[in-house]
Amino acid sequence: MWLAKEGHTGLVGINCLEKIQMATPATLYGAMLAGVDAVLMGAGVPRTIPNLLNMLARNEPINFAIDVDGAADGAFTVDFDPVNLLGYAPRVQRPVFLAIVSSHVLALFLAREEAIRPDGFIVEAPPAGGHNAPPRRPEINERGEMVFGPRDEPDLDKIAVTGLPYWLAGAAGTPEALLAALNQGAMGIQVGTIFALSNDSGIRSGIRDQMQAAIHDDSLYVRTDPVASPTGFPFKVAEISGTLSETRIYEARPRLCDLGYLRTAFVKTDGDIGYRCPSEPVHMYVRKGGDIADTVGRQCLCNGLTATVGLAQLHAGGYLEAPVATLGSDLAGAKRLAAQYPAGWSAVQVIDWLESLSLDSPRIKQVRVPSAGFS
Ligand SMILES: Cc1cc2nc3c(=O)[nH]c(=O)nc-3n(C[C@H](O)[C@H](O)[C@H](O)COP(=O)(O)O)c2cc1C
Repeated sequence: MWLAKEGHTGLVGINCLEKIQMATPATLYGAMLAGVDAVLMGAGVPRTIPNLLNMLARNEPINFAIDVDGAADGAFTVDFDPVNLLGYAPRVQRPVFLAIVSSHVLALFLAREEAIRPDGFIVEAPPAGGHNAPPRRPEINERGEMVFGPRDEPDLDKIAVTGLPYWLAGAAGTPEALLAALNQGAMGIQVGTIFALSNDSGIRSGIRDQMQAAIHDDSLYVRTDPVASPTGFPFKVAEISGTLSETRIYEARPRLCDLGYLRTAFVKTDGDIGYRCPSEPVHMYVRKGGDIADTVGRQCLCNGLTATVGLAQLHAGGYLEAPVATLGSDLAGAKRLAAQYPAGWSAVQVIDWLESLSLDSPRIKQVRVPSAGFS
């Protein structure tokens, strides 16, 4: 985070999954020490984060409640005391908190009470890359994909009524979509896919080249996998050869759990806390009280995604972790950029392209000055 803030005056945000709770207080406090401007958090109901950020900004000791299967709410906490840790109370600024939501119902719930109210929303639609909120009515199509329907479209007018600023994500990465979002009342857009495909992204170049080639010949398919992610949320998987999206590669992987970022806590029979993940070896998950049905089709996203950014682990038995690639399912913007930049594009070119139709918009004029802030 400290390095991300170097060499420019722009704003920097940090993104965490609500579901990964154990590290949340320390991660966010560390980011605050480095001057983070915004915290963006979804994949769960991030109702405790506004208060957590308020307390961290005052260097107060934190007892952060974590979910433990089999225990009552609030029975277990992660305790974090910044002053005890550092020996003094540094000046830290409270970052803006943007809750990532996929439904107006959740946005209205979070906006209702001051204690849980975020400073704004990222409104993420079903085509977005990475994890998605589950559809209101779970339905699987003949390709084994999770299907979204009109009921999964967030009602933006209802979100606007909260009076909080919001950004649109998911198939919003084109100049036309940015202009439409601004005209609709959004502050802007959040874009993933075309940045992930850019020459500046951290995705291993060989995988990016495969994706780019498949975009050029219009053969890239991104499926909404209902079970791949051990979090239980639908996850967008780009069908790229040599990755876990191929059955042969998935089945060749020995199940093991050695990174454990997505493990969840449960109460063991002796009352202690244990950790389990439905992507770990099946017998271990079942021995820990997990339901065998939850293990079917699960992928190890911890190892798969680290392999995708070039950090694949080589195990003692010689197995090299295979990557898993995610993108959004809407590739319209990527196809247009591929036509414009056949040799690939940079992140700056993405931003220039996205803003090209909105340069007269007061909002874009404001944010093109890097230090303008959110207001
Ligand atoms: C490669 C990739 C990784 C992503 N990882 C995350 C993530 O870790 N957390 C998150 O909240 N969103 C993640 N997203 C979603 C983006 O933040 C963004 O909301 C989404 O990609 C927007 O839709 P688009 O892909 O159609 O542009 C990811 C998207 C991509 C393409």
